[in-house]
Amino acid sequence: MKSITKYAESFNAYLTRKCNNQAPSSLFDPIDYILNLGGKRIRPALVLMTTDLFDGHVDHAYSAAMAIEVFHNFSLVHDDIMDDAPLRRQHPTVHEKWDINTAILSGDSMLIWAYQCLEDYDQHSFYTLVQLFSKTAQEVCSGQQMDMDFENLEEVSIEKYLEMIRLKTAVLVACAFKMGSIIAGTSLENQDHIYSFGINLGIAFQIQDDLLDVYGNPKTFGKQVGGDIIENKKTFLYLKALELSSEDDRNQLKHLFSINPKNTQAKIETVKQIYDQYEIKSISSERIERYKQKALLSLNQLNLPDDKKQKLKNFAQELMHREA
Ligand code: IPE
Ligand code: IPE
Ligand code: MG
Ligand code: MG
Ligand code: MG
Repeated sequence: MKSITKYAESFNAYLTRKCNNQAPSSLFDPIDYILNLGGKRIRPALVLMTTDLFDGHVDHAYSAAMAIEVFHNFSLVHDDIMDDAPLRRQHPTVHEKWDINTAILSGDSMLIWAYQCLEDYDQHSFYTLVQLFSKTAQEVCSGQQMDMDFENLEEVSIEKYLEMIRLKTAVLVACAFKMGSIIAGTSLENQDHIYSFGINLGIAFQIQDDLLDVYGNPKTFGKQVGGDIIENKKTFLYLKALELSSEDDRNQLKHLFSINPKNTQAKIETVKQIYDQYEIKSISSERIERYKQKALLSLNQLNLPDDKKQKLKNFAQELMHREA
């Protein structure tokens, strides 16, 4: 992603300086491991880019960027336990490489560290940033729990699914944009518009994550392809397929998403065949595009020079063409 690459790179340089081998290594090695596995660094880059776009001091944005990336990685470590995921960023997940107890406590420690990053700000900024951060973190937990609850529910509406992904994913993306705008000291109106931009982009991002989970290239995706099917996740793809399929196919899908067979490949293949039959891939892509367009509408309302709005548009465009 061209437009944010330079921010992601300078964030990586900052992160390398912040990771120092603390003791006990059994607590901190897993933290260094997950933070150094790569990752696109979208959220911290957004904090830096937004601060820059609103003419703030980018130097002041690194601690908030770090808070968000450490929080994001904490959520992935615990998410991988909850989703029983073997792979993250092409490597074994923390609970696979160590064990579940290690992943729980190293994750907890990262959540604390995320908050500590915000201690770098003066009292006023600290309060504003922590308030947003805590609200966001609480929402992410609600979204994660809804995601887990949906695994065992037979009926989930697309509306409920959209609310779930707004909470588990979109609010953190929106928080990254808003933190950048707060650090730059822009108007409250601008803060709200950039937050809405982030919410709709974040929703598009998660639907795309659902799509890549089924149709991604295993060489570039970095996670176990078909993981959501194995785990009976009520994704956009599944819910759309239920809506469009014949009674027989619907019954088969419902059955497949209520079992946990040993032969996961056969299950994935059958589900994929049904998805293909109802053109779920292109229907999902259309929905992603719709949320991207919705996001772009918030940009019109931003009080920002056109060339800077264009940077945000380019970013939205590039984000929708990711492979990992
Ligand atoms: C993965 O986020 C979790 C979701 C919200 C879909 P990313 O796709 O940003 O993961 P990394 O940080 O680049 O690995
Ligand atoms: C992740 O959703 C959301 C959070 C970690 C809060 P997913 O479970 O779809 O993310 P991946 O696909 O494992 O990255
Ligand atoms: Mg997961
Ligand atoms: Mg999950
Ligand atoms: Mg996913």
